[in-house]
Amino acid sequence: MSGPLNILYVTSEVVPFMKTGGLADVSEALPRALRAQGHDVRVVLPCYGTIPEDLKGVRSGPCSARFNGDSIFAAWRTARFPDSDMPVYLIEHDLYFWRDHPYGKGNTEYPDNLERFCFFCMAVLDFVPQTGWVPDVIHCHDWHTATIPAYIKTRFVDHPLWGAMPTVFTIHNLAYQGRFASSLMPKTGLGWELFTPKYVEYYGDINLMKAGITFASKLNTVSRTYAKEIQTELAGHGLEGVLRTRADDLCGIQNGVDLAVWNPTSDRRIPANFSVADQAGKRVCKEALQTRLGLDQKDVPIFSMVSRLVWDKGISALVTSLDQLLKKDIQVVLLGSGDLSFEQALLKVAQDNPGKMSVTIGYNEDLAHLIYAGSDFYMMPSRTEPCGLSQMYSMLYGTIPVVHRTGGLADTVTDATPGNLASQTATGIVFNTWSDRAFINAVNRALRLYGDASAFEQVRRTGMRRDFSWERSAREYVQLFREAVAAP
Ligand code: ADP
Ligand code: GLC
Repeated sequence: MSGPLNILYVTSEVVPFMKTGGLADVSEALPRALRAQGHDVRVVLPCYGTIPEDLKGVRSGPCSARFNGDSIFAAWRTARFPDSDMPVYLIEHDLYFWRDHPYGKGNTEYPDNLERFCFFCMAVLDFVPQTGWVPDVIHCHDWHTATIPAYIKTRFVDHPLWGAMPTVFTIHNLAYQGRFASSLMPKTGLGWELFTPKYVEYYGDINLMKAGITFASKLNTVSRTYAKEIQTELAGHGLEGVLRTRADDLCGIQNGVDLAVWNPTSDRRIPANFSVADQAGKRVCKEALQTRLGLDQKDVPIFSMVSRLVWDKGISALVTSLDQLLKKDIQVVLLGSGDLSFEQALLKVAQDNPGKMSVTIGYNEDLAHLIYAGSDFYMMPSRTEPCGLSQMYSMLYGTIPVVHRTGGLADTVTDATPGNLASQTATGIVFNTWSDRAFINAVNRALRLYGDASAFEQVRRTGMRRDFSWERSAREYVQLFREAVAAP
């Protein structure tokens, strides 16, 4: 098949409907990029209670799913992306999805998450035939949508539409696997015969990520380095063996950036626009950031972070290093939420350092844009990072990333070594082995770079010029979809 493809894109989050992290950004940008290349992409997500009314579109029909003999009924809605005619379908089931958060409250996952998302997957297979539109391939993302490939290869194997449907499963983060007690097996909609190590059983539990990996026609993850890392014990989170058995069907496709949203020359969320050629606006953004967060109006380097505050983001390195770092003439800005212990530790340091450090706990898209635009350095000491979008956003906004060499960070940031400075390819500071000490050393390197105005400017400008557009990656996805179609 060489013409345009019909692609059903099933995800648990997508901007501007629901966002907790990078998956939502990707789920907006990749469908748009695919559509720009002539493919008919339709996106499906759950109809969460927090989605603004004006985005919810219209109720279009009923749908249902059968689990263990019981039918569960819901509705499907048809909406559109703003400024686009691309359809977005929403599965409406208030008991499951009318909640403040998609996955859980604070750090506690909802106890019925398996039931919620297995229902979602089954409801998708029920409503799509009603639209009259027939996909060529289904593109699923992470454990929340991982049972779709499993349903297709098992209970729907004789279905006239789904029986031979190719699926592509994208792993955005292997650290979150959808692991549940075996007693919930009847709620998966999969037979007990699949509860074996070959399929969904994992150390006595159900592992939905494993179902996606086992049953999808093709697999990918979101950077080339992470695709290799997850086949090793170090980053495989126990699934490295399963991933190795599918190595021939697994590739890495690096995420891009939606330049309609993340672009300092046109971003309407920041007080002044700027570009490589005219950076005056960057100074305006820095001053606005200091004013907004109550930081001293001083010309010192600002180190920032916008992140989920969880273990794998390497937050502990920041917490342990802050005492030492704050002795220097710098300012630190942090926006995020997550583990309570990290939130409290960071808030305490900020309280002790007024005017010098600001911590905002919560989720704030406008402030995030201002932070990327108004900072000098962006800290991303992730222990593992499948791709990471923040380091790319910061580079494009002239904020130099300080990162651990892992996953997508290794693939997207070029270290400011003497050689890379000489060849004018450096875009950031990269440290090799993860430790608190290595992170502090990297910040010290950043400060030395800041002290060398011409080298600092060169690195900043090289990062701003980097091409992170989605076009190439979208083409790689199309290639993968075609491979899945050829060998479902
Ligand atoms: P991950 O998906 O693992 O969280 P990424 O770097 O891929 O990491 O994407 C994170 C996305 O979430 C970025 O768009 C970042 O700006 C955004 N983000 C994270 N925390 C917050 C927050 N507290 N407020 C606003 N945006 C946030
Ligand atoms: C996950 C990963 C992140 C990646 C994002 C989008 O949340 O943690 O590294 O950028 O998905 O693919």
